[in-house]
Amino acid sequence: MKNIHPVFDKIVSREAKEERLKQKAKVIWFTGLSGSGKTTVSSALEKKLFEMGYFTQLLDGDNIRTGINNNLGFSQEDRLENIRRIAEVSKLIMNCGVIVLCAFISPTDKIRNMAKSIIGEDDFIEVFVDTPIEVCEQRDVKGLYEKARKGIIKDFTGVSAPFDKPADANVIIDTSTVSLEESVEKIFGVIKDDITVSIS
Ligand code: ADX
Repeated sequence: MKNIHPVFDKIVSREAKEERLKQKAKVIWFTGLSGSGKTTVSSALEKKLFEMGYFTQLLDGDNIRTGINNNLGFSQEDRLENIRRIAEVSKLIMNCGVIVLCAFISPTDKIRNMAKSIIGEDDFIEVFVDTPIEVCEQRDVKGLYEKARKGIIKDFTGVSAPFDKPADANVIIDTSTVSLEESVEKIFGVIKDDITVSIS
């Protein structure tokens, strides 16, 4: 950090930007297995929020991995770096007053705790998409579970790489038993007060 002089105090404040956008910025962090429904639910939630007048940005695993993180693989070290960069980017966007939705497997407690500490505990809302692996595997939307079982893909989450179930998620949804609309409503019910400016 030698010879680096951050100028955070000269930048227009987050509060001023939140006031302009008439909302409170947060990061809504989706975690869950591949195929659990993170992308489907987070994009439906983003659409609902945007239509209601909130200003949002969705960051999603496959998009980020073809862009800013296209030099990273799926070792534990690379996943940690993947999420570190995403958490830093999320924080920058959040500091613009924007509500950020992140949809990444983020498979371990260590990885999620790092994201939470970068973003800040008070601004981090965790949604666990707890769809059973049997259902994710049956869906196999991208054909990756089949390849992982055959050993064609190594270090695949839930098959040959770990997934720690988060112990203290703010919301838990299981897309195999609850409809998309209900999942979105459930999450919205939990985040509503955190993202809405109270009228006094
Ligand atoms: S994370 O573990 O680092 O958080 P991330 O959410 O960015 O993962 O990317 C997951 C996506 O990458 C999956 O939805 C899947 O399409 C793809 N993928 C490719 N290889 C793997 C693998 N070995 N494990 C998990 N996902 C993989």
